Amino acid sequence: MVHSRIAGTGSYLPHKVITNADLEKLVDTSDEWIASRTGIRERRMAATGETTGDLAFEAAQRALAAAGVQAGELDLIVLGTTTPDLIFPATACLLQHRLGANGCAAFDVNAACSGFMYALAVADQFIRSGSVRKALVVGAETLTRMLDYGDRSTCVLFGDGAGAVVLEASDQPGIITTRLHADGGYKHLLYNPVGVSAGFQLDQPNAGVRVMMTGNEVFKVAVKTLDRMVGETLEAAGMHESDIDWLIPHQANLRIIEATARRLKLPMERVIVTVDRHGNTSSGSVPLALDEAVRSGKVQRGQTLLLEAFGGGFTWASALLRY
Ligand code: COA
Repeated sequence: MVHSRIAGTGSYLPHKVITNADLEKLVDTSDEWIASRTGIRERRMAATGETTGDLAFEAAQRALAAAGVQAGELDLIVLGTTTPDLIFPATACLLQHRLGANGCAAFDVNAACSGFMYALAVADQFIRSGSVRKALVVGAETLTRMLDYGDRSTCVLFGDGAGAVVLEASDQPGIITTRLHADGGYKHLLYNPVGVSAGFQLDQPNAGVRVMMTGNEVFKVAVKTLDRMVGETLEAAGMHESDIDWLIPHQANLRIIEATARRLKLPMERVIVTVDRHGNTSSGSVPLALDEAVRSGKVQRGQTLLLEAFGGGFTWASALLRY
């Protein structure tokens, strides 16, 4: 039986740091409010002209180098993003060309903050089916490009960044199970009101490219849903909470992360937390946290990791894997 395993990880953060103190100068907020409600202390912002594809390229190169894989060996690139460089071509195609992987399949997945998890599950399925041997999976975002820096309820939460993994076919797992879910009935709680087909509506009040969110409602659904999903994931794999070495959660809010850790009976020492320094980087969040954990030496080969994310859609997804 063919499995997929992570051969290498990489990530990239833009240089510019936006602290809570910087945001205090823009909106009526405070470091104390942001840190105590979300755990966020700073986030990164892409430079003028620096795109999602630029961040993805840096992260991808690092993942390929860590895996010892040449771009020309790739059979597939799947890139999770809600902030593509262009409406088309897909950012995955722009990335493919820059990497020199021309010819392989390349496409984007939009599942908001679950984008990387969806992309990982798609690539895993291609490898399990035997049609792909080596895949590059990326989560990359420039969320700060669609924030309204007059809206304190959203502009303090998000940041820019990218992470990537190279997946390889293997006779050993690797990825043990992935779970993907969505419920479009929750669209009204978290969305961006503009689009090609719906129209850009730039003349409407409150329109423009911006995040619309009912934060406290999103919070409640996220905690309940993640609680349910981690149970479902363990059950599908026939495993128990005590089998998990590391939880690598979506980095939206420290209180949501702590609730999931409690559900899994995991002390926070076994949870990778980057939200304090990255904010919510949407699709970038899980692979950024994974790469940081690998490079710091926390995550070791042979350990069992639970990755999860929740985002607009709503979408939610998990992957249980042996690193
Ligand atoms: N600074 C200061 N006050 C703020 C603020 C800010 N940046 N943003 C909102 N507030 C105010 C609100 O106006 C409200 O004031 P009021 O009581 O006078 O009406 C008060 O803080 C409480 O707002 P509420 O939204 O109930 O706070 P909360 O404890 O739920 O925290 C979030 C808000 C957004 C941090 C939290 O709900 C959250 O993280 N939700 C999930 C968001 C998320 O994960 N989104 C992405 C999914 S991937």
